[in-house]
Amino acid sequence: MSVRYKKSEELLERSLKTIPLGSQTFSKSKTALPFGVSPYFVAHAKGSRFWDVDGNEYIDYVNGLACVTLGYCDPDVDAAVKSQMESGVTFSIPHTLEMEIAELLVDLIPCAEKVRFAKNGSDVTSGAIRVARAVTGRNRIAVCGYHGWQDWYIGSTSRDLGVPPVVKNLTHAFKFNDLPSLEAILDAHSEEFAAVILEPMNSTYPANGFLEGVQALCRKHGALLVFDETITGFRYAKGGAQQEFGVTPDLATFGKGIANGYPLSALVGKAEYMNVVEEIFFSGTFGGETLSLAAAGAVIKKISREPVIETLKIRGEQILDGVNRVIADGAMSEILSISGHPTWSFLQFKAANGFSALEIKTLFLQEVFRRGIYTLGTHNLSYAHSSADVDALLNCYSEVFSLLKTAITTGNLKSRLECEPLVPLFTVR
Ligand SMILES: Cc1ncc(COP(=O)(O)O)c(C=O)c1O
Repeated sequence: MSVRYKKSEELLERSLKTIPLGSQTFSKSKTALPFGVSPYFVAHAKGSRFWDVDGNEYIDYVNGLACVTLGYCDPDVDAAVKSQMESGVTFSIPHTLEMEIAELLVDLIPCAEKVRFAKNGSDVTSGAIRVARAVTGRNRIAVCGYHGWQDWYIGSTSRDLGVPPVVKNLTHAFKFNDLPSLEAILDAHSEEFAAVILEPMNSTYPANGFLEGVQALCRKHGALLVFDETITGFRYAKGGAQQEFGVTPDLATFGKGIANGYPLSALVGKAEYMNVVEEIFFSGTFGGETLSLAAAGAVIKKISREPVIETLKIRGEQILDGVNRVIADGAMSEILSISGHPTWSFLQFKAANGFSALEIKTLFLQEVFRRGIYTLGTHNLSYAHSSADVDALLNCYSEVFSLLKTAITTGNLKSRLECEPLVPLFTVR
């Protein structure tokens, strides 16, 4: 039992008795957080920081897995939610907030003419696939990136336990920035694809013409183009990655940052396709829950009123430049690199001197957590991150990267680990 994470570890032991993995979310569980060197339970959070149950403070670069875009306890969001709470949460007939927030989305997002709200990203990516299948009368789906936990997507990954083969066989994965990989699957099952769904970007920028090429292939093959903007939405640009990259899909899905941590997601798209939502079944008790809609209203208004996106980009550039400088100064490019969009960037760990990338990442996590930086290797920025927060990240990296290099070159990495190394999980990006 570690001293620093004593309460976390005791609580994890208790939690595991009633909760599989001790967490509702894979990436917040012991599968992602090495035992002995990680916090497992949060006490509270504010702005860019959280405190664990042992009283350790962290600058948070995970931000609720990229759903907290303004910062924890944002005063405008809190005020909107408190005010709505005074008059009720979920009702027996629709509340006007549903159309008010839908109207804001239609104003901001290029492809949005109609909107259906739900709770999780997985709800709306699944809704998009249902719409595409209903519109086209076809069954096959092409996927690229991560799209949630439901059968139609997760069956295409190695974590497919419990998914019927008959469902799994309808989903085909293609590679980002690799049009021939998409063309090959579309050609192999001509006139059978309902949709092509992809994250318009995650760790790599779309190559020149890639998104346009995907769109052209969709048109040629009669499949709908769906952008999964669960993370890129309300982060890359006010209107999402589709606005940033100038390619307008037929449908798009939003979630995460839309309501700064309140559970809300949205399927949006062209009316000619979204109208079929009246014919299919995509409906839920909590789709019109008003605290999350009020939170979304506050987020969207703040993004429109203040330089939120611009600030995320400035801080993110500071991270990209700073990390590249630390890597270059320490001649560490054999071990580490960074890529992605300024507002959502990714560290890559490379196997070196007989150590696996996961062993190196485990030592990284041990050392950054210890120094009060919470990252899993990505930097999901929020408006609450200050320039000083980024300096603290870079100072931490400067120490930790050089410690990694020494551990790798001297060959004593394993003896520095105070935990078992992480084990490989399924990869989705
Ligand atoms: C791009 C993308 N799509 C869909 C999802 C699923 O969203 P949720 O976990 O809210 O169901 C995620 C979640 O990480 C995501 O990153």
